[in-house]
Amino acid sequence: MPEESQFLYLSRDDVEATGLSMAAIIDALEAAFTEKGRGQVEMPPKPGIHPGHGDNFIHAMPAYIPGLQSAGIKWVSGYPGNPEKGLPYISGLLIFNDADTGIPLAVMDCTWITAMRTGAATAVAARHLARPDSSTVGILGCGVQGRSNLEALNVLFPLRRVLAYDNTPANARAYADEMSERFHVTVEVVDAPRDAVSGADMVVTAGPILKTPHATIQAGWLDEGAFASLVDFDSYWHPAALHEADLFCTDDTPQLRHYQTMGYFKDIPDVHADLGELATGQKAGRTSPDQRTFACNLGLAMDDMAVAPLIYRRAVSQKVGTWLPL
Ligand SMILES: NC(=O)c1ccc[n+]([C@@H]2O[C@H](COP(=O)([O-])OP(=O)(O)OC[C@H]3O[C@@H](n4cnc5c(N)ncnc54)[C@H](O)[C@@H]3O)[C@@H](O)[C@H]2O)c1
Repeated sequence: MPEESQFLYLSRDDVEATGLSMAAIIDALEAAFTEKGRGQVEMPPKPGIHPGHGDNFIHAMPAYIPGLQSAGIKWVSGYPGNPEKGLPYISGLLIFNDADTGIPLAVMDCTWITAMRTGAATAVAARHLARPDSSTVGILGCGVQGRSNLEALNVLFPLRRVLAYDNTPANARAYADEMSERFHVTVEVVDAPRDAVSGADMVVTAGPILKTPHATIQAGWLDEGAFASLVDFDSYWHPAALHEADLFCTDDTPQLRHYQTMGYFKDIPDVHADLGELATGQKAGRTSPDQRTFACNLGLAMDDMAVAPLIYRRAVSQKVGTWLPL
């Protein structure tokens, strides 16, 4: 057990070794969003710095969720140029504090948590916004998020078929091999973005986030009754395609407004509800099978802080990680 003057360091491998399941992460996020809907989460909009040029960022993401005994902060970077240097796009660390004393209990790598919780947030939204019989998923951007979002949707939906598009075709092929074996679904690599959108019950766009969207997906591509998760914000969607939404939701409206002040989301539909309002039932999700529904989850500090205590408790009980002096 920890001494008062020690904290637990968990590497990326340590975090994964705790074996926390996607199903448990989805449940933790649903519980956290229920707390948020009740006004029980403290989470200021994330401040960030933008070193170098282009779309590089490093964000500070603090949150306190009393109901989950969770307090802490994630310090996470996204550098679009990293993959061509053989480095991950996303990297960072999370500090988990004792909510009663403020003392740091753990410092952990946050890349696995970021991937998993983002997929889980899509699944929480889909539980309220997608048709329960959704079985075909379109994935645009077959990277880390393309994988974790599929993993999460596979927990809640009877998936059979995946339509995979990546502008680097080798990435889509590697994805198809890996995902079909892992989840026992048919994965078809498609050559054009439209073929991953039309005909899908659920669509996840997970390419680069751009302040000026490339806006490839046009009005008329998304089927009636489909659900879309905009992991890469509105980058992939033409405004006319977004305005076909019957329900346009987000994870946190104040943070969406905050991004708008920074120049993102110049032309999006009105927000119907945030995930807290959907989780508590204050606002209804899908009410008919032919609605087009959208979740534009920005990725919140509370997502990470819903997961961190679960990782910490498992690591302590499994004796995973390295205790270090404070
Ligand atoms: N909303 C959130 O909570 C959240 C959280 C984490 C990451 N993200 C975002 O998700 C996106 C994906 O992150 P990742 O870690 O999976 O990155 P990644 O580098 O692992 O994967 C991105 C994939 O997209 C492909 N790609 C690039 N441009 C494309 C295009 N126009 N069409 C199709 N595919 C394209 C790349 O070839 C690559 O395979 C990033 O924009 C990231 O900022 C969002």
